[in-house]
Parts: sequence; structure tokens; C-alpha cells
Amino acid sequence: MTEPKPRGFLRAAACLAALLLSVPALVANAAEEHGATGVDWQAWTANNQVWNTESLQRGATNFVNYCLGCHSLKYMRYSRMGVDLGIPEARLQDTLIPTNAKPTDYMLSTFPAVEGETWFGKAPPDLSLTARAKGTNYIYQFLKGFYVDASKATGTNNLALDGAAMPAVLSDLEGVKAAVFGEADEAGVRHVERFDQVAAGRMTPEQFDSFVRDTVNFLDYASEPTQVQRRALGIWVVLFLAVFTLFAWLLKREYWKDVH
Ligand code: HEC
Repeated sequence: MTEPKPRGFLRAAACLAALLLSVPALVANAAEEHGATGVDWQAWTANNQVWNTESLQRGATNFVNYCLGCHSLKYMRYSRMGVDLGIPEARLQDTLIPTNAKPTDYMLSTFPAVEGETWFGKAPPDLSLTARAKGTNYIYQFLKGFYVDASKATGTNNLALDGAAMPAVLSDLEGVKAAVFGEADEAGVRHVERFDQVAAGRMTPEQFDSFVRDTVNFLDYASEPTQVQRRALGIWVVLFLAVFTLFAWLLKREYWKDVH
């Protein structure tokens, strides 16, 4: 009988694992690149990692500081978020729960819907399910898609949502940009040739991308809180299967030794 080659087997398994892990990264890199003609904003991808707890913690802070003023997460309790994201209770209380709210309260905006309509022409929607309904890439494109448009009441328009009633609430971080549009194509769509920075923000473009990615990540988590545990469990299941396969193979080798 020829000697089995466990090293070859392991090497093959390692190669397969490396390949599987690198595929999403390769796809993501390709998608991040700008198209040959101008800014390919439809290809912007969130690339958020819902298993990245630190990113989720930052996203929660971003949401409370920049979004909760207008948007609610009506199914999410502060306490649940704290447990899921591993935020210590004292920190939750000090930095994330508004002074007039309790840990067991739902994350509700104090902004009355009626006033939202008078102010913006549209009430800010609850964002509980937006990541699931519209996708994380959409939210990422939306948050990065604001550009100056003097004809709009808010002073800005949005690439992902034409005529968006939401003001560019992150402009102090991102800065203010004007979009330079090119000629319309056959389908009547005008592509963005480039952005011109009108005012600088407090963040570099890379910092702002991370800020938006963390925020989107948090909304992804909020839209399906159990997915965090499920993914953590999934890793153990895959590991178990890998180890089990190895033992099954060793056992088979042991049995067949006598047959040969
Ligand atoms: C000043 C109030 C205000 C703040 C603050 C605010 N929004 Fe909004 N947002 C709105 C309004 C109003 C709309 C409705 C826009 C529309 O439908 O035209 C909206 C809509 C949205 C939508 C849905 C877009 C769609 O396609 O329907 C998303 C997603 C969103 N906001 C995310 C955020 C996030 C994330 C933050 C925090 C970084 C934030 N918003 C902060 C007012 C606000």
C-alpha cells in the first residue's frame, strides 16, 4: 500500500481555505475601483463586516450621535444592543443612552414625525429594516452620495435618492462636494464625471469611508440582530466539520489498512 500523504491533504485544504477567504476581498477590490468614465458610484460597496464587534460599537456611537436625532430603531432596546455588542453597562449608560431614557427602552428618536413632515416634507423613516430592505451598499452609497444642489430646499441632492428630503447631516465630517455631470447616455442617465470639493470636512476621505462603513455595519446588525450570534456559531460549525472530516479520514485509513 502506498503511504498516505497527510501533508498533501493538509496543503490542499489550506489552499482551498485561502482561496475561499480571498474571493470576497478580490471582488470587493474590483468593485471599489472607479470606472473608466468618471465616478462609478453605483459600484461603491459597503464591505461591512457584521462580525466585527469593534466596528459595530463605533457604528452604534455614530448612529446615536448623528442619526438618532431623526431616525428610530423601534425594535431595538439599548440593553440588547449593549449585550450583543459587548458594551459594558456603565459605558452604555454614559455614552449611548440619552439622559431621559432607560436601558430597557427602545431606541426611539425624540423627533416627532409630524414635525419631520413640516420640516423636511417627509418624516424620517424608522431604519430598523432598511439594511435588509434596500441593502447595505445602498445605504453606503446614500450616505456618501450627497452633493450641492442649490435648487433643493436642503441645499443638497443625493445620487442614490434623487430629491432626498434628508439634509447632508455628515457634511461637517465629509466636507461639501459638488458633482460634475457629463453628457446623458442613450438611456438618458447623466454620469458623474468627478466631484469638486467645495468645503473641507473634519475627516480625510479614508476616515469618512470608515465612519460610513461602521454606521452601515451597525444598521446591518440592527436589521437582523441574531445574525451576529449566528455567524459566531457558524464559524464553530465549520471548524467542527473540518476537524471531523480529518478524523473520519484518519479512521477510514485505519480500517482500510487491514483490507489492503
Ligand atoms: C435632520 C434629520 C435627519 C438626520 C439627522 C438623519 N436623517 Fe436620514 N432621513 C431623514 C429624512 C427626512 C429622510 C427621508 C428622505 C426621503 O425619503 O426623501 C431620511 C432618510 C434616510 C434613509 C432612507 C433613504 C431611502 O432610500 O428611503 C436612510 C438609510 C437614512 N436616512 C439614514 C440616515 C443615517 C444613517 C443617519 C445618520 C448618519 C441619518 N439618516 C440622519 C432625516 C434625517
